[in-house]
Amino acid sequence: MKDIDGNNSNAPIGIFDSGLGGLSICKEIIKVLPNESVIYLADSANTPYGEKSREDIIDLSIKNTAYLLELGCKIIVVACNTATTNAISVLREKYDVPFIGIEPATKPAALQSGTGKIGVLATKGTLNSDLFLTTSSKFREQLEIIEVEGINLVRLIEKGQLEETKPLLIEYLEPMVDKGVDHIVLGCTHYPFLIPIIQELIPGNIEIIDSGKAVAKQTLNVLDSEGLLSQTSENTKVFYTNNNIDLLVSFLERIDVKSETIEFKNF
Ligand code: DGL
Repeated sequence: MKDIDGNNSNAPIGIFDSGLGGLSICKEIIKVLPNESVIYLADSANTPYGEKSREDIIDLSIKNTAYLLELGCKIIVVACNTATTNAISVLREKYDVPFIGIEPATKPAALQSGTGKIGVLATKGTLNSDLFLTTSSKFREQLEIIEVEGINLVRLIEKGQLEETKPLLIEYLEPMVDKGVDHIVLGCTHYPFLIPIIQELIPGNIEIIDSGKAVAKQTLNVLDSEGLLSQTSENTKVFYTNNNIDLLVSFLERIDVKSETIEFKNF
C-alpha cells in the first residue's frame, strides 16, 4: 500500500466493533472523510463483548486489529466503548499504528450539565473498566452520575429487533429521569440506533450525548497530523461480518451508506 515515498496515506481506515453498533461511528467518519477508503469489521459472531471478561475482550480486539492490519489499514478506529475501555492501552503497546477509541462522553455532559446530574447508559464491561472509573471519578465530586447497564440491548439490536428494546429502555431510563438528569450519555456505539425510541421515552429537555461526530473529527485530526490523509478521491467502502450478512445490509441502509463490497468473512 506504500507509494514511491513510502507513504501509505491512501490505505484504508480500519474500523471494528463487536457487531453492527460501530456503524454509527462509521457513518460519521464517512461524512467527515468522504475521500477515505474504509474497511469495517462487524465481529457479530462474538457479540456482546460487554458481558465478556477483560482478557476475552483484549483477545478479540487483538484478533480484529491484526486482521485489519493484514488488510493494510493505516489507522484503527475501535468503534466500541467496551473494547476501547478494556483493550486500547494493550493495542497501543502492541501495534505501531495510530488508534482512535471511544469512551462514554462523561466530560462534555459534566461540563454542560445544569442540574449536576447526568445519566450514563453503557455495557457492564464499560462501566466496570478502569478507564471509565478513572474518567468518571474526576467528575464525581461536583456531579451525580447515574450509571445504568443496558442489559440485553446489544443482543436485540444485533437481531435487528429495535422496537423490542422499548420495555427495557423504559426500565433503564426511568431512574435517570426520576433523578433529574439533564444529559444522557450513550456509552455504547449500538445505542445511537435507539435514539428515536429513547426520545419518545424521555422529556424533551434532556440532551442525548452520542460521540460519533467527535470520534470522526478526532480521526480526521490524527490522520492530518500524521500526514496520513488520503491523496486521492478514489476510494472503496468494504464491510465484513462473521454473522448475518442480511442484517449488515439492512443496517447499512439505515445509515444510508452505499458500499462497494459487503462480504461474509470468518476473521
Ligand atoms: N458497541 C459496543 C460498545 O460500544 C457494544 C458492546 C457489546 O458488544 O456488548 O460497547
